[in-house]
Amino acid sequence: MTLRNKQIVIAVTGGIAAYKTAQLVREAQAEGAQVRVVMTASATSFVAAKTFQALSGNPVAITDNGLFDQAGMDHIALARWADLIVIAPASANSIAKLTHGEADELLYALCLAHQGAVAVAPAMNQQMWSNAATQENLKHLADRGFLIWGPADGAQACGEVGPGRMLEVTALLQLMIRQFENSAFAAQHILITAGPTHEAIDPVRYIGNRSSGKMGFALAEAALAAGAHVTLIAGPTHETCNSRIRLINVVSAAEMHHAVFQQVDDCDLFIGCAAVADYRLTDVASEKIKKSDNTLCLELTPTADILSDVKQAKPTLFCVGFAAETEHTIEHASEKLIRKNLDMIIANNVSCSDQGFNSDYNSVEIITADNQESIARMRKTTLAIKILDAIHKQLINHKEKSNVRFLKKSHST
Ligand SMILES: Cc1cc2nc3c(=O)[nH]c(=O)nc-3n(C[C@H](O)[C@H](O)[C@H](O)COP(=O)(O)O)c2cc1C
Repeated sequence: MTLRNKQIVIAVTGGIAAYKTAQLVREAQAEGAQVRVVMTASATSFVAAKTFQALSGNPVAITDNGLFDQAGMDHIALARWADLIVIAPASANSIAKLTHGEADELLYALCLAHQGAVAVAPAMNQQMWSNAATQENLKHLADRGFLIWGPADGAQACGEVGPGRMLEVTALLQLMIRQFENSAFAAQHILITAGPTHEAIDPVRYIGNRSSGKMGFALAEAALAAGAHVTLIAGPTHETCNSRIRLINVVSAAEMHHAVFQQVDDCDLFIGCAAVADYRLTDVASEKIKKSDNTLCLELTPTADILSDVKQAKPTLFCVGFAAETEHTIEHASEKLIRKNLDMIIANNVSCSDQGFNSDYNSVEIITADNQESIARMRKTTLAIKILDAIHKQLINHKEKSNVRFLKKSHST
């Protein structure tokens, strides 16, 4: 009973996927949760409130009519009652209203009054999902700490195919359970590197790589949601992050190395996700190199290896590396794990065009000295949660072995 004693408001807005929410209510209750259902007026034209009333065993709140509060302020009573609010499906309209802090229906007033976590499970036509307005709204919500669960890709009720399907009930249930396990990293300081580095050739040119920083930023967000203090040291990227994440921007491998060593002393976990350049120019030209008909040779010098250096300086610190490979992924990553004395390595094959570098998706192998787990292709935001789960499990073993300061076990029972 992973949700035992948890008080969860499941909110339904006006979308086709509302029929699946009936199952979600049942499954959450089967896991021990107490569930109260809130609906928007529009949602009641998709599934009758009676269905949710019968399933949850509670009246369904649509307006502030005193079902849960004699003073008639149900939105306040529910806001205080809920440990978690899950809006599933979250229509494009509801996402826009939440973004703008509207309060013209009970659900939106409830979300404004609630101090805890609110998760939205978007469900809509793929064009509505891709529309810049929806994407910008979700970015704002994510920045404000809303949890964005999904959507999934696939066939849609409207006959189109693409992103916008509500996550399946089992996936939503897992995320709900995960939400209550997120004290796993409470008060821990997690240091993460992300993105590429740029190695100057001259004042206008550099050597870089295709890393977008999306994975490292997703890990930082997931670590924040799991209760950690997060420091993110990022090379040049277009990614943005929650203002509660301490972001340190760097450009070169040397700068990243320096920044890491300034932070690493008081960190409890180090995740080296950045695609750090292996080489830098031996001599950076002080003026722009002029074009000529001659061949130009650039001499490269190896850069310092941040992960190896961290592990050498802090042998008891749990260190996680990433290996981006184009062939023999597992062999190369396993060799790196041993050579750098890492505790875990996340290996991925970056030769596929639809995942890895500069994509929102990836599939990885999580490799430790005594285990290997394959994680199928999924959004990096979901993958980040899975990677942190694996780290958390491994850290408990690590703590037992090396007696380093670390973790509380998760609160969930
Ligand atoms: C048959 C039908 C299906 C719809 N499905 C969706 C949907 O899946 N997602 C969505 O965002 N809007 C969908 N809409 C539009 C919403 O119902 C509409 O924007 C409504 O105002 C949403 O209200 P609410 O979000 O406040 O509940 C659908 C409309 C109709 C008529």
